[in-house]
Amino acid sequence: MQFDLFDDTQNKILDAKVYSEFKTALAESNCTNCALSSSRRHIVVDRGSVDAKVLMIGEAPGENEDIQAKAFVGRAGQLLDEMMRGLGFDTNRESLIANVVKCRPPENRSPKQEEVDACLPFLKKQIALLKPKVILLLGAVALKHVIKDRGQFSMEKEVGQFFEHPDFPDVKFMVLYHPAFILRDPRKKPVMEEHLKRFKDYWDKNRSF
Ligand code: URA
Repeated sequence: MQFDLFDDTQNKILDAKVYSEFKTALAESNCTNCALSSSRRHIVVDRGSVDAKVLMIGEAPGENEDIQAKAFVGRAGQLLDEMMRGLGFDTNRESLIANVVKCRPPENRSPKQEEVDACLPFLKKQIALLKPKVILLLGAVALKHVIKDRGQFSMEKEVGQFFEHPDFPDVKFMVLYHPAFILRDPRKKPVMEEHLKRFKDYWDKNRSF
């Protein structure tokens, strides 16, 4: 991995010992490791609790996130919050929500491979510092880039299934539809609710690790 910014700032981010130190260093870094830096307003590190053991990973910040410097605060995030609240799960208190890339791609296009490559060390650092017990992958982009060896996959087969991966010992993964997909196709909402319920039942049984 080559960084443009292989300097003290970059080291401070990736050498951080605690999450809050990492977050401040990245948010204030003015990172220019990829082209998204030229159009972003803010680096969007996350939203939620730094003590959470549930990590949700989306694709990339959208316009609202770019303005507010917080992940999943637009319509998709509000829908996710609402569905989780319906199950008695407070996303701000009980989870941390982050993205594969931390800066908004122009016109909300999917991030390019080189942008993901430049940004993935930050997500890996988030996982290393947070030590989540459950990771919920929101959508195909999160699955493709976090689980490297998945190859060709069908979202219809992946969603709602728990699995483990040797790169992340002690973590239970579940792939979910991205909430933006549910906004586009509300007929899938009951299916996503069923998957979220499956996660919540698991979490209620296993939360006191
Ligand atoms: N979509 C994402 O994948 N992430 C966000 O933060 C907002 C919308």
